[in-house]
Amino acid sequence: MRLPERPTGWFAACAAGDLKRGDVQSRRLFGESIALYRTESGRVRASFATCPHLGANLGRGTVCGEYLQCPFHHFAFDGDGKCVDTPYDGPVPRQARVRMLEVRERNGLILVWWDDEGRAPSWEVPEHDQQGWGLPRLKCFRFKGHPQDTTENSVDLGHFATVHGFSGVEMTERLQTDGPEMTARYRFIHHLGPAAWNVEFTARVFGLGYSLVEVHIPKLGSRVRLFVLPVPVENGEIELRLGAAAPDGPLGRLQRSIVSRATLWLLARDANQDIPIWKERVYLERPVLARGDGPIGPYRRWARQFYPSLQTQSSEVA
Ligand code: FES
Ligand SMILES: [Fe+2]
Repeated sequence: MRLPERPTGWFAACAAGDLKRGDVQSRRLFGESIALYRTESGRVRASFATCPHLGANLGRGTVCGEYLQCPFHHFAFDGDGKCVDTPYDGPVPRQARVRMLEVRERNGLILVWWDDEGRAPSWEVPEHDQQGWGLPRLKCFRFKGHPQDTTENSVDLGHFATVHGFSGVEMTERLQTDGPEMTARYRFIHHLGPAAWNVEFTARVFGLGYSLVEVHIPKLGSRVRLFVLPVPVENGEIELRLGAAAPDGPLGRLQRSIVSRATLWLLARDANQDIPIWKERVYLERPVLARGDGPIGPYRRWARQFYPSLQTQSSEVA
């Protein structure tokens, strides 16, 4: 069995700062052409990009005040996707409408809700306490992969030693799940040249597209936040945005910038060790698990909620 390529949930399209007022992005997300834009008043919107008039790509359009104007015959669409203006004298065609996607601007990121059947969001990614924290610095990778695999990384304890060279990896608490949220806490020893640090990780996962990992290094008294943000794009490929954010320190913004850059470099180095494996990995419905793997089974049971079509199939079978 293959997992559906597009799980239901919130997925990060870009950093909020990368979409300025008046910007329009033409994107391939969830196997669809999507127009992502920010109006002059600052609202972020996403719509399916095919103009209902004669099929032009609205992602190449222009923001006019609160509307998105098609590049072809300048029909303008409002925040509900309704055509509200044309350059012609006649009435605006009432059927001219584009389907909108739900968008949130949260934690310095732009999140888009995907559901194969177009169902409305049934949960939210919470706003994290940003007091004293910088916004995440992001780096994007694109490769053949699946959000379930990249998120599974957080609970695949065995690979931390074999792929990344960490030692002493252990869960410090049982895996907790609460609806679309999952929390995993563990610690390990991170080796960097001759240095070694005890590191404590708390991975807070909201669906398959959004993980926040709170990192604490007691010896250095330091904390950083990591973000793991996969989104299906097309043809079985994902974009994986990795993010790092650091708190204010005695050196202020400079410290924040140096720490977040260094953290992102380390995170990207780890991802470059995972990606060649993810690219060729095959999803096994019945993997042969072993003691020491970490809670991969509970993780996969939790992840099934993001594939409503599989739940329908299994209830049909039952
Ligand atoms: S195709 Fe968009 S206005 Fe004509
Ligand atoms: Fe990994």
